[in-house]
Amino acid sequence: MDRSVHNKGTYHIETWGCQMNVHDSEKLSGSMEREGYLRAAGPDGADVVLLNTCSIREKASEKVFSELGRLRKLKDRNPDMILGVCGCVGQQEGAEIFRRAPFVDLVIGPRSTASLPALMERVRQGETDVSLRVDTEYRRDSIDFPYDQIRREGEAAGKAFVTVIEGCNHRCTFCIVPRTRGKEVCRGMDDILAEVGQLADRGVLEVEFLGQTVNAYRDDRGNGLAELLVATSRIDGIERIRFTTSHPAQMTERLMDAMAEAGPRVVPFLHLPVQSGSSSVLKDMRRGYDRGTYLAKVAALRERIPGICLGTDIIVGFPTESDVDFRETLSLMEEVRFHSCYSFTYSPRPGTASEAFHDGVGPEEKQARLHELQLVQKGIQERLHASWVGRTVEVLVEGASKSDASRMTGRTPESRIVNFTGNAVIGRMAPILVESSSAYALLGRKIEPEA
Ligand code: SAH
Ligand code: F3S
Repeated sequence: MDRSVHNKGTYHIETWGCQMNVHDSEKLSGSMEREGYLRAAGPDGADVVLLNTCSIREKASEKVFSELGRLRKLKDRNPDMILGVCGCVGQQEGAEIFRRAPFVDLVIGPRSTASLPALMERVRQGETDVSLRVDTEYRRDSIDFPYDQIRREGEAAGKAFVTVIEGCNHRCTFCIVPRTRGKEVCRGMDDILAEVGQLADRGVLEVEFLGQTVNAYRDDRGNGLAELLVATSRIDGIERIRFTTSHPAQMTERLMDAMAEAGPRVVPFLHLPVQSGSSSVLKDMRRGYDRGTYLAKVAALRERIPGICLGTDIIVGFPTESDVDFRETLSLMEEVRFHSCYSFTYSPRPGTASEAFHDGVGPEEKQARLHELQLVQKGIQERLHASWVGRTVEVLVEGASKSDASRMTGRTPESRIVNFTGNAVIGRMAPILVESSSAYALLGRKIEPEA
């Protein structure tokens, strides 16, 4: 019997955190729908509610427990509702979640996504042993998830995430990811190319390769990200190839050459988290590069791919960051001029090396540094975006603009958000004349392509 026609009820998934989590939720949704569940409009009244959690910063895990408290009320009203915790908080806390929140039914780590149907079945059978309702093992069948079963949120807008590597072999002293997502595991390149080929056949124009350290990708046959980019650029129909996140220490000249060789289909945008502009802080973070090496990589990229735009992540208020170190971060930002920057105050995480460091930066100082850094970045983005006015750009159309319902929105290859007037088809490319700009977006109007 085809189980998909047998409606078992409705499900709702809440997702926090990075793109990998967003994509894991697409896999969890796919599993639920294959099992015969339909998507609910929200948690109220849903038969299954899953929280796909993030533990990268302290507040993220506390947020999970407060959200669980809220969902408990739904469960009081509907005792048959199944409540699950997935993602990095699930991995980190494991069966401990059942102690703090005994009304939770199942717990799944980020690398055991594929075990959702089996755990759901146990819960439905009335399994009470918590050790049988948790899976935090690293499972190969999760990275080799059947890609035709993924429920892709971006597909209507012509975009799709594609997992290429999971886990991280680095040991940055502040980071919990190696604990929650484990060691690196890579998919075979042939499997990835088959997935991309299927996406292209379905009308997807843009793929984004995902991994915590995507440029560490290497399959059993020795293919690296360089080979994958070149091979993907030959697949008909795929017009944009992105990949995130790249580690600066593994940003090799071979990979930069491949980006240039693969041509403009590999977008001229790279997210390259620097974390700090101070070599001594970078050493304490165990990042594996210093300020000079990072700047040399930026120069090498700009030499090979003229017009490439860069994005970054920065942590301020690392335990050993002095005011002088912080000024070095600001000066690096002025020197590189990033087009986007995610910035965070340092947050100690359990089991990381930096948790034991004496924290010499008080909470107010951390906030003050973050504020100053964000002001500097805003100024840089304003100036960079102003230089785009008058240019005609090609955007992949996403839908209505969130900030202004009279406009549509899309992104350029460089990942610039463009809000524009005029009608355009969602999921297709459109030429836009940029007429004005702000720190966060470009504004323009759709023009007719030249004959
Ligand atoms: N491999 C990914 C890292 C994921 S974490 C990458 O290189 O982008 C995403 C970002 O969260 C990191 O780049 C870092 O800037 C920030 N982050 C990680 N741990 C943190 C912590 N303990 N406190 C504050 N920010 C942190
Ligand atoms: Fe975290 Fe460093 Fe890996 S930031 S994900 S340990 S590269």
